[in-house]
Amino acid sequence: MNAPPLRLGVNIDHVATVRNARGGFHPDPIRAANMAVLAGADGITAHLREDRRHIRDQDMERLKRNLFVPLNFEMAATAEMVEIATRIRPNACCLVPEKREERTTEGGLDIIGQGAHLRPVIQELKDLGIRVSLFVEPEIEVMDAACELGAPVVELHTGTYCEVGDEEERAHELERLRRAAEHGAKIGLEIHAGHGLSFDTVRPVAAIPQIVELNIGHFLVGEAIFMGLDEAVRCMRVAMDEGRAQIT
Ligand code: PXP
Repeated sequence: MNAPPLRLGVNIDHVATVRNARGGFHPDPIRAANMAVLAGADGITAHLREDRRHIRDQDMERLKRNLFVPLNFEMAATAEMVEIATRIRPNACCLVPEKREERTTEGGLDIIGQGAHLRPVIQELKDLGIRVSLFVEPEIEVMDAACELGAPVVELHTGTYCEVGDEEERAHELERLRRAAEHGAKIGLEIHAGHGLSFDTVRPVAAIPQIVELNIGHFLVGEAIFMGLDEAVRCMRVAMDEGRAQIT
């Protein structure tokens, strides 16, 4: 099988987390983004949260001005974020659920229950020429709902697959991802995946032929402490390519 190439989007949120721990400007997430691109990232992802706990408005503006690769703006589907996206014009917007009390995005969007709210947001962003993706659970009916809402892309939540300790459960979660990717692609969706991926978990996901983009952040920024960001991105790229090469 000739699988399409697999892009790597590097999420630089947690470079901003470290910067914000002390205030000031160091480490600069835009410098990290440029370094990730030189090391092989195909795009940069940043999540502007309602509470601005990591990425801030000015970071998004600087990223858009300084990057030579596509910028993927992760955001909640709120009027405030749509206004910011309208001003900044990222290449892509990934709509995510957001709760103030969560440490990270804990689950996919409830696109079946929230369809009426999401539909006009998707349309408004699409009308601006922005590629819209929905961060969702890997379920067949969720793929159908995304398609019905007019979203061109879904990003499958890999968090549960990455978190389970048990081999059998992990195989089950991987199968859910495979089935959702296969069905989603069949009905015309572009399939991305992300959340919690590491050197240990990325290969089987990269081996799902319908997936064309992975978005990875926390592990890479953490690993950068030990091997440097440049090397962490390069090693992730190698692991992804190894996974992709398993497709027969
Ligand atoms: N994709 C989405 C939609 C996310 O919300 C996140 C976390 O911000 C990621 C990918 C990256 O997850 P991680 O930082 O665990 O690699």
